[in-house]
Amino acid sequence: MPTTPFDGQKPGTSGLRKKVKVFQQPGYAENFIQSVFDVVERGAGATLVLGGDGRFHNRAVIQQAIRMAAANGYARVLVGRGGILSTPAASNVIRKYKASGGLVLSASHNPGGPDEDFGIKYNIANGGPAPEGVTEAIHARTTTIERWLTVEAADIDLDAVGIVEVGDMNVEIIDPVADYANLMEELFDFDAIRGIVASGFTMCFDAMSAVTGPYATEILERRLGFAAGTVVNGIPLEDFGGHHPDPNLIHAKALHDLMMGPDAPDLGAASDGDGDRNLIIGRGRFVTPSDSLAMLAANIECAPAYRNRLTGIARSMPTSAAADRVAEALGVRCFETPTGWKFFGNLLDAGMVTICGEESAGTGSDHVREKDGLWAVLLWLNILAVRGISVDELARLHWARFGRNYYARHDYEGVDKDGADALMAALVAQLDTLAGQAFGALEVAKADSFSYTDPVDGSVSANQGIRVLFEGGSRVVFRLSGTGTAGATLRVYLENYMPPSGDLDADTGAMLADQIAAAEAIAGIARHTGRTAPDVVT
Ligand code: G1P
Ligand code: ZN
Repeated sequence: MPTTPFDGQKPGTSGLRKKVKVFQQPGYAENFIQSVFDVVERGAGATLVLGGDGRFHNRAVIQQAIRMAAANGYARVLVGRGGILSTPAASNVIRKYKASGGLVLSASHNPGGPDEDFGIKYNIANGGPAPEGVTEAIHARTTTIERWLTVEAADIDLDAVGIVEVGDMNVEIIDPVADYANLMEELFDFDAIRGIVASGFTMCFDAMSAVTGPYATEILERRLGFAAGTVVNGIPLEDFGGHHPDPNLIHAKALHDLMMGPDAPDLGAASDGDGDRNLIIGRGRFVTPSDSLAMLAANIECAPAYRNRLTGIARSMPTSAAADRVAEALGVRCFETPTGWKFFGNLLDAGMVTICGEESAGTGSDHVREKDGLWAVLLWLNILAVRGISVDELARLHWARFGRNYYARHDYEGVDKDGADALMAALVAQLDTLAGQAFGALEVAKADSFSYTDPVDGSVSANQGIRVLFEGGSRVVFRLSGTGTAGATLRVYLENYMPPSGDLDADTGAMLADQIAAAEAIAGIARHTGRTAPDVVT
């Protein structure tokens, strides 16, 4: 059996993500799953949650995992019908039914199909991704494991809700949507939203042929009364129709074009492969994920379940500082964490923050322990309904109060790993000498390699990206992606802050020109990667 299924992938990243063909090797997925079962905490009679985004190979791994869970002494497995659970829905099911954890099968926004990506990660009892200590233990176990346990049993029918026995274990096939839809109804003012729908408010939700289709159809069309057809690409497909289920301006271009055109509805939104990311576009107004976090936090009192209980806001380091200004104005705490949702878990569990988000289109709250695409869309709807304004009006009022953080991320994908490593090493070597240097109109105030000490458990995560902060509040950040499956991906994050007295209605590209030039001058991107322009700008 292969003994190193992570092979080349950083152990700290959320689970295992590889090509389907790799997962199809005999013993490969089993090695990972057995390693999880060997190291994670679970008492006698434990419950395991199982579900995924429905991509190619999902059902096969679900059947393997059921047999292995039975052989490993689980008392009960909860499986979403059809093997389906969006990532936030899986988090909710783990919490609601007090499971010891869950296996979430997804490669998020990466393409699906026989030649594309697959992934498995383990979430712990709080519903969130396993913290680094656990993922490292799983990784270590994969390198020494010499056996995996399974029972002899036929595949079960994943499409019939009900209970069947596999070995001595109960397998409960549950409705993947109901618990999640009920939770959303508890959190938000559905009556207010129904009110604006009745008075003509329209939206388009692009489920990108991925997992959120059934969730969005139930909530938006059935419970909130939006017209049939509001949800487009609403049937989950094993290959997402051949597209990248990534809700950004490149892969959700059709939605963007609709929202910028004459027939735009009031709100355009999309979610990714496994339902944890979101895209928000008002009529004629794109909202960056960093701004969305800040705007949602500033208006969170509109939602019944959040009234009088905002304790703090957390954002990942590369996310713009727009949320920090809201936290300051509201007098709540603000945390800057490394990239990756798992760093929010402790803060949420400790009640230190209520809402958190990342620039990569992830926003969420303490209702589950994953980011949640539809949740963000529903909070936007709730706020627009209560305030009775458009997305564009809300954005302008927000900037007039807090100022505007012009922001973009430039991705250089599939670059040579050695070149990317050399670029980062050269940045580290310059850190001590950057302060005080001028790059065009920008002067470096401070440069460092971001390190985070978890305020709850004291754990330290070092080398989380290079920050170059300029006088006046603008900055560039460099880091290598931890989720890519081919070569290296360099991410360059660019930000320029404009106070309320400045130009709040400028072109983002123009506002970031100095930062883009400084990034090239400081990092030598062309020299190290051979690239003169990013592959993706978001
Ligand atoms: C990317 C995003 C990060 C997100 C992660 C998982 O990671 O940048 O914010 O948490 O996907 O969805 P990266 O590829 O940058 O390591
Ligand atoms: Zn995702």
